[in-house]
Amino acid sequence: MKDTIITTSSGPVGAHMRKGPLKPGQRVQLTDRRGKPSTITLAEGGEWHTHQGVLRHDVLIGQPEGIVVANDAGYEYQVLRPLLNDYVLSMPRGATVVYPKDSAQIVQVADIFPGAHVVEAGVGSGALSISLLRAVGDAGTLHSYERREDFRDIAVGNVEAFFGQPHPGWEVLVGDMQELAAQKEAPGSVDRVVLDMLAPWECLNTVKTILAPGGVWVSYVATVTQLSRLAEDIRADGGFTEPEAHETMLRTWHLDGLAVRPDHRMVAHTGFLISTRRLADDQTPLQLKKREKVSEPSAEDQAAWGANDPNASWDEDSLKTRVVSKKKARRAASHAQQIAEKAKEVPVDRGDD
Ligand SMILES: C[S@@+](CC[C@H](N)C(=O)[O-])C[C@H]1O[C@@H](n2cnc3c(N)ncnc32)[C@H](O)[C@@H]1O
Repeated sequence: MKDTIITTSSGPVGAHMRKGPLKPGQRVQLTDRRGKPSTITLAEGGEWHTHQGVLRHDVLIGQPEGIVVANDAGYEYQVLRPLLNDYVLSMPRGATVVYPKDSAQIVQVADIFPGAHVVEAGVGSGALSISLLRAVGDAGTLHSYERREDFRDIAVGNVEAFFGQPHPGWEVLVGDMQELAAQKEAPGSVDRVVLDMLAPWECLNTVKTILAPGGVWVSYVATVTQLSRLAEDIRADGGFTEPEAHETMLRTWHLDGLAVRPDHRMVAHTGFLISTRRLADDQTPLQLKKREKVSEPSAEDQAAWGANDPNASWDEDSLKTRVVSKKKARRAASHAQQIAEKAKEVPVDRGDD
């Protein structure tokens, strides 16, 4: 049946990208017999060339998801739209993305709800932004702060490609979160803050100003030293509840007859989540009893640990994180924008005709 264009109000933003027969402009994941997934963007008359032969896109367009197709050499693929989990791992990227297992936890721990006003920094490749936008929904707003313009471009491409259109509640602002958000957000107006950056404690005063009483602040950090520094700064500030931290280890399982066991390999470490809530003004956090027993670290311990050293440099080099070159980021941005342009051509309908 021919596509019917009805309006963006026909359903939640992005739903038309995820239902119904496959359409030009949509991403599909082709998985071969070895389980190797490849993701392509469908185009009328398009061809996908591999060492195994050529697959014509027209064979897929108009078909339901879940079919198995063969290329011109008889090599078979299972065809499905990428789920959000697959999408973020296959999209163009500059900065390292938050893994799906952690995004899911962030949405839950930060209690991101439909209609919420959320502030996020940094944006990186936009992986976490997609999960946050889905959780706030069309009635919510997400203001995402990112200091690198080239990363903003990658993220915008990825987010628009995912939803097939700009998200009505999303605004990306280029600059340092601690300065820009303090100007942009009214004091006490933000429901939730989510930070994924090297030095989140630099944003503490801004978070304290913009976050509503009871509002949740979650930070994702990669190292124990960052975790410790942030926890101690939150405590020292006194405007927040006792911080809580955890990490999520995801172990996948091999399922084959009687050979049911954990997989040999896993992603052993991604990062830690630390969360706290804003107290109302002029309130003092309750001192938790369990903390009374904790002795203060000695000066020697603190020096050895280094986490609270005011002269420590919290840059990519000392934290051994990858620095993404401008050239690589430009390439990823242009790739993400190309995919987004194709996605925006997909008619916004109910997706089921
Ligand atoms: C690891 S990346 C974020 C990845 C992103 N959460 C994702 O899932 O794709 C960290 C980002 O924070 C940005 N950043 C670091 N400090 C910042 C600050 N103070 N304000 C705004 N952005 C910042 C960096 O430029 C970088 O793009």
